Amino acid sequence: MRDPRTTSLCILGAGGFIGSHLLSRLVRESWRDIRAIDITSDKIRRLLDRDNITFVHLDIYDTPGLAEHIERADIVISLVALCNPSLYTTVPLDVIDINFNRPLEVVRMCAARGKWLIHFSTSEVYGKTIGRYAPEAADDPARFVLSEDTSPMILGPVGAQRWSYAAAKQLLERVIYAYGFEQGLEYTIVRPFNFIGPRMDYIPGIDGSGVPRVLACFMEALMTGKPLKLVDGGRARRCFTYIDDAVDAVVRMLERPDAAKGRIFNVGHPGNEVTIAGLAEKMLSIYRELCPRIAPEAPCMDRVSGESFYGAGYEDSDRRMPDITKARSLLEWEPKTDLDTALRHTMAHYIREYGADCAPREAC
Ligand code: UGA
Repeated sequence: MRDPRTTSLCILGAGGFIGSHLLSRLVRESWRDIRAIDITSDKIRRLLDRDNITFVHLDIYDTPGLAEHIERADIVISLVALCNPSLYTTVPLDVIDINFNRPLEVVRMCAARGKWLIHFSTSEVYGKTIGRYAPEAADDPARFVLSEDTSPMILGPVGAQRWSYAAAKQLLERVIYAYGFEQGLEYTIVRPFNFIGPRMDYIPGIDGSGVPRVLACFMEALMTGKPLKLVDGGRARRCFTYIDDAVDAVVRMLERPDAAKGRIFNVGHPGNEVTIAGLAEKMLSIYRELCPRIAPEAPCMDRVSGESFYGAGYEDSDRRMPDITKARSLLEWEPKTDLDTALRHTMAHYIREYGADCAPREAC
């Protein structure tokens, strides 16, 4: 059998958070021929002098350019996305375009050229859990453990634009599946469950604007001494997954094509479930460990409504707990990083990167 490390990879969105970590690992393990495509290379600059990487500055809207690079690859990994909930209610047309229309072109190109497409979807396709509609059964795991091939996908009404992203991603999954069914497209769909790690999101006012995802929101608050905002009281739950574990799952897919092709995989850490209020508590206490001079008093948290924080049309995924039986059995994958360790690594990186002064403060 051909050594998978000799296959040629085309990674779309290689300069983003997931791409930058995937690239590091592939470089470390001497994958021979990696084409890294993005409009930005800040997060991967330190890797670009390696012989096995070719960086191509290319926009996903450049269809002929895209076709040329897909043509010469064996495997296409598609990571391009707008995946920040503050955008779903404010620029839903861009969200649908980048998460559906543009990747649809990629799917078509892969189908026409016989390429294996590894497409990054989202855990958000599951939407809300059935448990939310049957509160009396909320503690029955069958009501909230999400399985790739059996769980329903429950999105809110059209006016609740929070779901513009999930609907776009879900329809694209269905298109990929249909191309597999009708035209033999070789595909693998990855559903990430809240990956966290260094380089994940910007800090507003420093290297970006608007509202990033929760971990960066809380880091900004901690580093600038503002209160952490708990949307709808922080009762939603997430299973945060450390990026090294996530990348390990993807590498196992690349190494086991027969197990990975034609399948959808949840990639998440079921042992790391926490409420957002619990996450805030944990981050506050880790921040105090990393920055011991910060004032010990004050819970430093504010409750805000979803609509006031994100705008009209915001609804939330109440709970998403991945069933990872399939990745365990077919990829022999097991996420290893517990939540505290994942947060400590990620937060220490933010503090180093943004030069937080850890200065003593009166209160939050
Ligand atoms: C987002 C994307 O929609 C998913 O596609 C993506 O897979 C996921 O992030 C991810 O990182 O993997 P979500 O988990 O809702 O989904 O995004 P976050 O912004 O990280 O929000 C998590 C929870 O924290 C939500 O309940 C949100 O309302 C809450 N939140 C966010 C706060 O309570 N305070 C904040 O300052 C920010």
